[in-house]
Amino acid sequence: MNTATESAKALWDKSFEEQIIRQAYNTAPVEAVIRNISYYLRDRYSAAEVKQLHFLEMGCGACPNLIWLAQRGMRVSGIDISPTALHLGRQNLEEAGYNARIGKLIEGSVTDVPFEDESFDGIIEACVFQHLSKTDRLSAFSEVKRLLRPGGVFVGYMLDIGHSIFQTKGTEQLADDPGTLYLTDGSSNLHLTNIGLSHFYSKQEFFDLLEGFAVIDPCLTTYYLPQDEAAKRGYKEYLQSMWTIYAIK
Ligand SMILES: C[S@@+](CC[C@H](N)C(=O)[O-])C[C@H]1O[C@@H](n2cnc3c(N)ncnc32)[C@H](O)[C@@H]1O
Repeated sequence: MNTATESAKALWDKSFEEQIIRQAYNTAPVEAVIRNISYYLRDRYSAAEVKQLHFLEMGCGACPNLIWLAQRGMRVSGIDISPTALHLGRQNLEEAGYNARIGKLIEGSVTDVPFEDESFDGIIEACVFQHLSKTDRLSAFSEVKRLLRPGGVFVGYMLDIGHSIFQTKGTEQLADDPGTLYLTDGSSNLHLTNIGLSHFYSKQEFFDLLEGFAVIDPCLTTYYLPQDEAAKRGYKEYLQSMWTIYAIK
């Protein structure tokens, strides 16, 4: 593990310890991700065929997305850098009754996923690839390409360059990695504003990173947080702006 990966592990582990104490971790699947997967499955597979599929989540956290997939009957695997998150995720999958559907839950980095080429029918990620350095982003997307079988689906959910945090702090973007900010406001590890490295993607980046895929369809969702919520985060106005990437290899 390199130094950047070691510090990401420490940061996320600390964050999950706090999330567990405050019962603040994500228990709901990410709607944009599962809706895309739902349409993909409905177009191509019967309910019986879905049970033969194997999906991977890269950065699975507390596993709400994997639980949703397991509910459909498929085999699920996950990789996460935080042992605390992974322990919680396994516990949540087991408590939901899906022990038998767990393939592997691996402690490790999305930049180097220990599975054979073309192991998966589908791969998802939500709010993980947005916290990777440039080198690690390239590695993570190249792992997506390697691990998916032809015709398999990738759905990702990432920060957009139009997000108000980037719009406010864009002048601080890293000189050698445009679109990337280092966010530290000293608040809690639960806040985006204190999460460290955050990359805000432009649409073109997905076409570059997923070059060779048969379908690459980035969809932008934007909305303003209610003013009291924005104020709590120290902003007059807070525009949430996120990409949902739907891609078929
Ligand atoms: C914002 S949480 C999202 C968790 C989950 N995807 C969800 O939707 O609930 C980000 C997750 O990515 C994990 N993570 C961050 N960097 C990682 C890396 N390089 N490799 C693997 N996991 C990573 C963190 O430990 C954390 O569980």
